[in-house]
Amino acid sequence: MEKLPILVFGATGRQGGSVARALLKAHRPVRALVRDTAAAESVALRDAGVELVQGTFDDIETIRAAMKGAYGVFSVLPGNLAQGEEVRAGIAIADLAIESGVVHFVYSSGASAGDKLTGVARFDAKPRIEAHIRNLPVAATIVRPMIFMEMLVRPGLGLEEGRYTFFLRPDQSMQLIAVEDIGKFVAAIFADRTRFGGKTLKIAGDTVTGSELEAILTQVAGRPIAYARFSEEFLVANPDLGHMAASLDAGPLADHVDLDLMREINPEMLSFRSWLSGSGYRAFEEILRRAAG
Ligand SMILES: NC(=O)c1ccc[n+]([C@@H]2O[C@H](COP(=O)([O-])OP(=O)(O)OC[C@H]3O[C@@H](n4cnc5c(N)ncnc54)[C@H](OP(=O)(O)O)[C@@H]3O)[C@@H](O)[C@H]2O)c1
Repeated sequence: MEKLPILVFGATGRQGGSVARALLKAHRPVRALVRDTAAAESVALRDAGVELVQGTFDDIETIRAAMKGAYGVFSVLPGNLAQGEEVRAGIAIADLAIESGVVHFVYSSGASAGDKLTGVARFDAKPRIEAHIRNLPVAATIVRPMIFMEMLVRPGLGLEEGRYTFFLRPDQSMQLIAVEDIGKFVAAIFADRTRFGGKTLKIAGDTVTGSELEAILTQVAGRPIAYARFSEEFLVANPDLGHMAASLDAGPLADHVDLDLMREINPEMLSFRSWLSGSGYRAFEEILRRAAG
């Protein structure tokens, strides 16, 4: 079984790329559906040993062929799809996996997805796909990655002005995950279908409060970075961000996973501090440099 390939969607992107790399590292054969085989990310995947199949979510026959003989499928959908499109593609990929006799199906949902629908179309695509997958006759694992550490080091959060704004109150905590750890968790999940098949699992690598964010950003930057929560007016004016703040206050993002369990599954998982001073430093430093200039 371990010699059969795992078909990875989105392998030229963040999550799929992380999964493809971690599976290769675990000596699992990887096949990837990519839109452009000549793109630099695709060429890098091929050079690393990934078998490329050219196609999009609309190419049902291509996906069917790509799933032939596959042990597993990792499904992740881009964040820019309309809700209807996301649901359609998520369900079609899962149904094709069943038809193809895939043994283990892993779907990456989102930590904001709760078990109930919100009634707001754009937040309900992932729970709808999850519900469909749970009813399929396959060992499926649904992962819900917590907030990507990469999301914290982006322009527009105040770093350019030497300060930082985000969702947390100083004593409120949230959980984060480095994208590179998503692949490591998923590789561990594919390695143990008996343990993880049929499970829905939030995945995270660290917990930080607003005050800790300030301390870590300051320490890694080597100069003071004052932290403040987004203002209420700002959250009201930006409903998607307001939804996330509400989710951190009392919704699915307020539920924290047990980090000891996470470490047992992925012993290499990164804390925010280690990520920021390691692989996250380049992006951080680039914004800080703009602030200095
Ligand atoms: N928890 C968090 O903090 C957080 C943050 C951001 C996103 N997310 C979630 O992460 C998911 C997106 O994953 P990601 O960040 O890994 O995505 P990503 O980096 O944007 O990559 C998207 C991937 O999908 C591929 N793709 C796009 N349209 C396609 C199509 N029509 N057919 C086939 N492939 C297509 C892209 O290929 P090309 O290279 O050809 O474009 C790329 O490989 C979304 O569900 C989003 O909600 C979560």
